[in-house]
Amino acid sequence: MPSIQACLFDLDGVIVDTARFHYIAWRKVANDLGFDLSLGQNELLKGISRMESLDIILSIGGVVLSEEEKIRRATEKNAHYLELCQQMTPDDTLPGVRVFLDELKAKDIKIGLGSASKNARIILVRIDMLKYFETIVDGNRITRGKPDPQVFLMGAEDLLTAPEHCVVFEDAVAGIESAKSAGMFAVGIGHKSILTEADIVVAGFDEFRVADLLVAFGE
Ligand code: BG6
Ligand code: MG
Repeated sequence: MPSIQACLFDLDGVIVDTARFHYIAWRKVANDLGFDLSLGQNELLKGISRMESLDIILSIGGVVLSEEEKIRRATEKNAHYLELCQQMTPDDTLPGVRVFLDELKAKDIKIGLGSASKNARIILVRIDMLKYFETIVDGNRITRGKPDPQVFLMGAEDLLTAPEHCVVFEDAVAGIESAKSAGMFAVGIGHKSILTEADIVVAGFDEFRVADLLVAFGE
């Protein structure tokens, strides 16, 4: 029976609630193009890279843009997003996350980040969480986004850990698929009805401790 040697965390929606800022910034892009973006449609963008998210939004609005115009809109969106993120403080770290990471450290379980975001480091610095991560695999390093397993396989390799000894924490359907294709145990953060492929689903870290993870993993 494999034991847990490393935990790989998604950032947005797992460590910190940035989804609301992504939504405000993407909604402005949609509004500027003459249509609206609902919260339900925003779900489709979770875990998906910036340019792929823009493609999904454009298809929702039935809008076609040149490559140049797409880059301009995505750059504008990112500037707006980062401006919104300036309001963030360490208090925006999701409930229970710090305690959970402290417990992992106490048990010598390695910690890595596996995020599609190119802003991962900036956000971790803002919420004062950079120090927890032994490796960061982000949107600047990967060539294939979630649901491809690359992001988590790179993290496992950085931490010198075989996939069967890794646990992934994810709030996005694409991220759970990525973890499962990497051969890892996947903990969904959110709702069972959405994260159907996860090994277990929890609402968040405020009522989930490392001891619960070990039981779920079969240790
Ligand atoms: C993911 C988010 O973590 O990162 C997506 O869930 C986002 O919503 C993606 O589009 C890319 O983020 P960024 O910060 O590089 O635009
Ligand atoms: Mg996420």
